Amino acid sequence: MGREPPSHFSLTPQRVCLMDPKRWERALAGIDLGPRHYYQQVGSTNDIAEQKINQGSPDLTVIIADEQVAGRGRQGRMWHTPPDAALAFSVVILPQAGIVHKGNLSRLTGLGALAVAQALQDSFSIRACIKWPNDVLVEDKKACGVLVESIWKGDQLQGAILGMGININPRALPDPDGLRFPAISLEEAVDQALAREDVLAAVLKTMVDWYPRLDSDAFLQAWEDRLCWRGQDVILSVADAPQCQGRILGLDPDGSLRLSDPSGKVVSFQIGEIQLRPVDRS
Ligand code: BTN
Repeated sequence: MGREPPSHFSLTPQRVCLMDPKRWERALAGIDLGPRHYYQQVGSTNDIAEQKINQGSPDLTVIIADEQVAGRGRQGRMWHTPPDAALAFSVVILPQAGIVHKGNLSRLTGLGALAVAQALQDSFSIRACIKWPNDVLVEDKKACGVLVESIWKGDQLQGAILGMGININPRALPDPDGLRFPAISLEEAVDQALAREDVLAAVLKTMVDWYPRLDSDAFLQAWEDRLCWRGQDVILSVADAPQCQGRILGLDPDGSLRLSDPSGKVVSFQIGEIQLRPVDRS
């Protein structure tokens, strides 16, 4: 993509250093990214990414934190990131003609989820699927969440932030009592220790590979192919409405989920409108 290789990376130490950025940089070598910034502890990597956008940081700048003390998930939920247990990172995405624009922002959630699901399969032989819109499931439990936020000046898109949190080892999992959906770490799935930087490298490599094709039919197809419960019935929770059931058909070009309702009528829901649950877990 003609991007200059970053000349530096930075670490912002705020207490005892658990991360070794040199090791992480070795793992990321050769991936066409912007600068990487490593933090021992932050509120939320998405907030740091927003600051980087405001400071004029280049496309695909990556913010990586060992620990988040105010990590957030979708719909105002908290995201738990204790030290040395998870991957928490955010990627700066700048608007670019033909790649990212107002009209395809909703595909960025798919980009993050697809990159994780595909990288887990290709690099670690972990079977993973995308619980639309933003969760990656392993063994039917949540291993990763994606949070996309966008920055505007008036109606001008300044940039978007693709934030991803991946449970690497069991310490990353929050108290199960507070969970809406069961969670799993990748180390539980493979029954061995994993290096966080290797998982990050696999995910970012896959993301960077799809990124220039965000607008393509091939991207939409790959995203759709990895949906959990495709062709199966799911329970839909729609805000302020009784739960209903539908069969997952696929995705519309804007990333909306297409389902058939029990009468056979085809309906689409945009990201943020509904929550899904498989029928047999309700
Ligand atoms: C969700 O499942 O609701 C989305 C979770 C997204 C968590 C990641 S961790 C890195 C980035 N920083 C945050 O504060 N949130 C995202």
